[in-house]
Amino acid sequence: MSKPVTVAVVGATGAVGEVMLSVLRERKFPIRELIPLASERSAGGTVDFGNQKIVVRDLATFDPKGVDIALFSAGGSVSKEYAPKFAAADALVIDNSSAFRNDDDVPLVVAEVNPEHLRSIPRGIIANPNCSTMQMLVALAPIHRAVGIVRINVATYQSVSGSGQRALRELGRQTAAILNFQSPLPEVYPVQIAFNVIPHGGDFLDNGYTSEEMKLVWETRKILSAPEILVNATVVRVPVFFGHSEAVHIETRDKISAAEARALLANAPGVEVVDDPVPGGYPTPVTHASGRDPVFVGRIREDISHPRGLNLWVVSDNIRKGAALNAVQLAELWLKNRA
Ligand code: A2P
Repeated sequence: MSKPVTVAVVGATGAVGEVMLSVLRERKFPIRELIPLASERSAGGTVDFGNQKIVVRDLATFDPKGVDIALFSAGGSVSKEYAPKFAAADALVIDNSSAFRNDDDVPLVVAEVNPEHLRSIPRGIIANPNCSTMQMLVALAPIHRAVGIVRINVATYQSVSGSGQRALRELGRQTAAILNFQSPLPEVYPVQIAFNVIPHGGDFLDNGYTSEEMKLVWETRKILSAPEILVNATVVRVPVFFGHSEAVHIETRDKISAAEARALLANAPGVEVVDDPVPGGYPTPVTHASGRDPVFVGRIREDISHPRGLNLWVVSDNIRKGAALNAVQLAELWLKNRA
């Protein structure tokens, strides 16, 4: 067991921050002091950490000296401004935003996939990948290592928790409004999310894709150290509270059968295969993923339209493995490497 350390959670009152606190507790992370930080809006309030209530402090006036590890999940602009200040004060920053993910001198790491990238952390900042990329690569990395993936075609079915607390409340509020025959006014999303699906996440870019779609392209290549992999993504927001799903279609260099892929994934770290071709014999966000750690994979079948194509259905809790859990796993790996 490592020596206890001081851990700051930036964005501790948010959807991801709250789960970071639970995951640190559940995994018995060696903590000397836990410091929850948020904006001045929630400073002075408390967050629960096991049976303790810990007072939230204002990030803007906090002095990072003495912090060993800072887990950031308060959005890109907060990370851009404050993460370098924490790193300059000798804290290891694990950043959940997209602020540094594409920087060459910032490792972008999925704990089960490329932990070796933690060997060099030149700026004292590690980036936690986007939730959709994270779960997809936990499932695909073992296949890539075995037979080489040439192309990935993915459509996501992303839950609203990925957009934060306000989006969770919006889905609840709109659902109640519709059931009461009232108008479901959109605030977080551009159109109604309850009883609807929205083919849009992030900003629209010049190439017609959205920023959330291009994260799947850029981050996949960086994490797998495979700039040649072709990735084509469509990101869709669905009225689910917790858990992202993905229909993933891959083309491999060498043929892999569905049975071989199933056997490979059954032994892969962080993966749980749920794949019976009967009603309910597949993972869904509500029945399997929500509140749980693994990446669940089902509907594994050979693509009847391609000689080396394979289809998978990948489901995971976007707030846990897609954000909080991976961040804590990276902190654990860093402590281990340091020991
Ligand atoms: P606060 O509760 O003070 O607004 P979510 O993604 O669920 O919306 O959560 C965002 C998290 O980031 C919250 O903890 C929020 O704190 C925090 N946050 C947002 N803006 C800032 C900021 N400027 N400084 C510090 N924390 C911030």
